Amino acid sequence: MLRRPVFAANWKMNYGPTDARAFAAAFAARWTPRADRTVIVFPPALSLSTLAHALGGRTDIAIGVQNIWTEAKGAFTGESSAAMAHDAGARYALVGHSERRHVFGETDAQTAKKCLAAARGGLVPILCVGELLEQREAGATEAVVLRQLRAGLAGLAELAPDVMSAMAIAYEPVWAIGTGRTATPSDASAVHAAIRTALVERVTDAANDIPILYGGSVNAGNAASLLAAENVDGLLVGGASLDAESWAAICDT
Ligand code: 13P
Repeated sequence: MLRRPVFAANWKMNYGPTDARAFAAAFAARWTPRADRTVIVFPPALSLSTLAHALGGRTDIAIGVQNIWTEAKGAFTGESSAAMAHDAGARYALVGHSERRHVFGETDAQTAKKCLAAARGGLVPILCVGELLEQREAGATEAVVLRQLRAGLAGLAELAPDVMSAMAIAYEPVWAIGTGRTATPSDASAVHAAIRTALVERVTDAANDIPILYGGSVNAGNAASLLAAENVDGLLVGGASLDAESWAAICDT
């Protein structure tokens, strides 16, 4: 099947409401809607609502939340639920981003719960997986990535296959994030192929609808070659998504 390419901007901890509004104005002026791709912007939670309002008329630009908590509500100081993010305008949720795992200590068990919480809260989970440099050097890339993948999918196991397939995967090798060093298109392709095989085993045929994005030092110069690699269905971009012009150039790949 033909998967529509997905271009996702992860702002990480950049751009409060004022800067988010300015970005929305600049990007909306520069970016012409294209029906052949999905564009998603992940601002910090505090800027979700502002960005949603600023992009109000632009239904071609979707918004996502960078992280959610596992429960729907309650005594979880500092956290946001999927339903709250949805209410603020989000339709997607990143789950298990490298920084959540390695800076904040998020476990596979938590990513599993967050995938389910996202789906139950009306958000499409984008499960992020990726190996550390020492794991790659030890030849453990596939084992690590597939362990993270299976753990995340386990959280969705109780859903029907068609509901379960309403998700995306992002492969982001940790050593490529924010380092200026990308995986080669063929390295990315090999890992994406392993992910695809595992998805088909787990989710059956509906798995072919699940886009697999690559992330890690993607920019306007390398986006085309990465996106052309087999099994790479989209890009998850950090630093190069913060400039409206550079982000538009990537979305035009
Ligand atoms: P960079 O594009 O800045 O390397 O970040 C990648 C990333 O972590 C996106 O989620």
